[in-house]
Amino acid sequence: MSTPPAPVDPADYDFLSGCFAPISTECDRRELTAVAGEIPPDLNGIYMRNGGNPRFTPLGGFVYPFEGDAMVHAVELADGKASYRNRFLRTPALALEEKAGHAIWASLMSGYQPDPEVVGPDLAYRPKDLPSINIVRHHGRIIALAEQSRSYRITEDLRTLEAETLGGAFPMGFCAHPKVDPTTGEMVVFQYALWAPFLQWAVVDRDGRVVSGPNPVEGIDAAHMVHDFVITATKIVLVVSPAIFELEKLLRGEGSPLDWRPDLGTRIAVIDRAGVSPTRWYQTDAFWTWHYGNGFDDGDDVVFDGVRWDHLGIDLAGDNGENSGDYARFRLRPGTAHVQVETVVDRQMEFPRIDDRRVGQRHERVAVGTRIRPGIPVGQFDAIMTLDPDTGSTAVFDAGDLAVGEPCFAGDHLLTFAIDRTDYRSFLLILRADDVAAGPVATIAIGSRVPLGLHGAWLPS
Ligand SMILES: [Fe+2]
Repeated sequence: MSTPPAPVDPADYDFLSGCFAPISTECDRRELTAVAGEIPPDLNGIYMRNGGNPRFTPLGGFVYPFEGDAMVHAVELADGKASYRNRFLRTPALALEEKAGHAIWASLMSGYQPDPEVVGPDLAYRPKDLPSINIVRHHGRIIALAEQSRSYRITEDLRTLEAETLGGAFPMGFCAHPKVDPTTGEMVVFQYALWAPFLQWAVVDRDGRVVSGPNPVEGIDAAHMVHDFVITATKIVLVVSPAIFELEKLLRGEGSPLDWRPDLGTRIAVIDRAGVSPTRWYQTDAFWTWHYGNGFDDGDDVVFDGVRWDHLGIDLAGDNGENSGDYARFRLRPGTAHVQVETVVDRQMEFPRIDDRRVGQRHERVAVGTRIRPGIPVGQFDAIMTLDPDTGSTAVFDAGDLAVGEPCFAGDHLLTFAIDRTDYRSFLLILRADDVAAGPVATIAIGSRVPLGLHGAWLPS
């Protein structure tokens, strides 16, 4: 039987400390207090936010943002009142660890996987399911999403249901950023894999049935990391940057298995959602993108925008250097392989979101997290900004001592969790999307710590 690596010292890891320090408690709290402002009475629904929050001290390392057990924090808004609940996603692997009282699985960088004698034949020799990245609701299903492991369905009150494989089409999971087309009700997903076919996509109809795919993307001959993608009314846009997995390195535990190879450039596939026209390919200098705002058809052109990094802003071995980024708009014309790209806002930012009711259509406003103070570390934000992708005009809310998370549209408002960097008091902020500079219309005290996390969703009633 192989021996697991030792527990880490969380103090050695930025993403296990301070505003990111995990919590172990689960609670239900009714009638939260608005410490400033008033909760808009017509804002009715549940805001759910996901994130990696290790239940036990991690073994052998910790790779942000991919590791840590999923914990969902949810605030329900109804008739001007708010309530809060948080829960771990109780996957079979986490249930085993809770029974043992300690971590059994180790960091993906350690190369260690537990034996069947310890975890049984179903869970042995495979990565732990970590559905900790995002939340989507489609066809009445609320899904806590993972990348490179299975996603899980959850209930409105955050009970964990079964793994969501889309009817068996994706037994090992799909992606963390599916797109729901508000006009057709379809959900479009993709999946990257460490083996052929390396990149696939599929369409799930409004009734939850996979009606197209999984379809392989032709012309991909290596395992590329692809975190997010874009849909328009007629197209799927997959940006394939040169972030390439070296499986051999991973198996031998020889440093980061993810190589950045800028000499290969970035390729962009424009795929016909109906599966009729052939895929169009575009080629440009290497850039990396974690997240896109949105895309749309402009005549025969495809236009999309997102946060562009000059290189892969993460090293799985933990050596995250400086990176520069901006908000960029891309235009892809038929009949040429050239990518037309321009900077919209020249500033570092992340977590771009639009109003989900505009996905795949022309959008007028993007909300992001950004930094004002020079000392704010990578992965944290002290400001929420909205930008107009056509004009580049911006509006900024300076959150002061608050570290804010991804801004999520809820109708005409934006929601985000915020944690005070000085005393870790935590809040839900509600801002007007058309006037973030005015500051929150309501600041709701949660009453316990909500660590910084990843993506969330507004689920209107
Ligand atoms: Fe993401």
